[in-house]
Amino acid sequence: MLIMLDTADHQTIREGFEFFPLAGVTTNPSIVAKAKGDFWTIQEGIRDLIGAKSLLFAQVIGETAEEMLAEAKLLQDRLGENTYAKVPVTKEGLKAMTMIKKEGIGVLATAIFTPMQALLAARAGADWVAPYVNRIDNISGDGVGVIAAIRDIYDQAGIETKIIAASFKNVQQVLECAKLGAEAVTVPGDILEKMLEHLMTDWSMDQFNKDWKAQYGNRTISQL
Ligand code: G3P
Repeated sequence: MLIMLDTADHQTIREGFEFFPLAGVTTNPSIVAKAKGDFWTIQEGIRDLIGAKSLLFAQVIGETAEEMLAEAKLLQDRLGENTYAKVPVTKEGLKAMTMIKKEGIGVLATAIFTPMQALLAARAGADWVAPYVNRIDNISGDGVGVIAAIRDIYDQAGIETKIIAASFKNVQQVLECAKLGAEAVTVPGDILEKMLEHLMTDWSMDQFNKDWKAQYGNRTISQL
């Protein structure tokens, strides 16, 4: 399962890509607005930070399929080959997905709340679908259950569209998606950090350091 960062914050992306094995970055209009700056400076800055080979998912905001297609072309022109147009799973969005794919541009169907939306998006040609796990949980739904149902439907029908589970508020939700075989998750910076943290790891490191210093002082292996 690939791991992506769900943010437009350059500092979070810089640090994330320095330390974590990340495959890409996703944004949406709310995330970009939160970064408070010029749209292209934000998006091109992300591309520079993650390099040409990493995946970048940027959302269209047009209301009609034709507008979405024009935006998808522009996004790919300015942000490079490994850029996917995020298209909402609406009626115009479904139409746009097919049109964008015909132009050879990758598509991620976003704002997925049900398995049926994921099926329709796949049939419209989407390369990826992004079900919103925590937002589903927050409307008394079962976010992880939706991932499981999509996995089932895709596997039974031989659909190759990939699941990038999104909208996370805790690590357990991420773990459940990994166990179900989602091809990717996209997480905010704080959840990424929490995926790594464990008190017993910290305790073990303290113990190793204490024992090493008792025998070798402050010297490192290369100084011995
Ligand atoms: O990628 C979708 C995601 O950004 C939604 O997340 O945390 O706003 O529910 P959230």
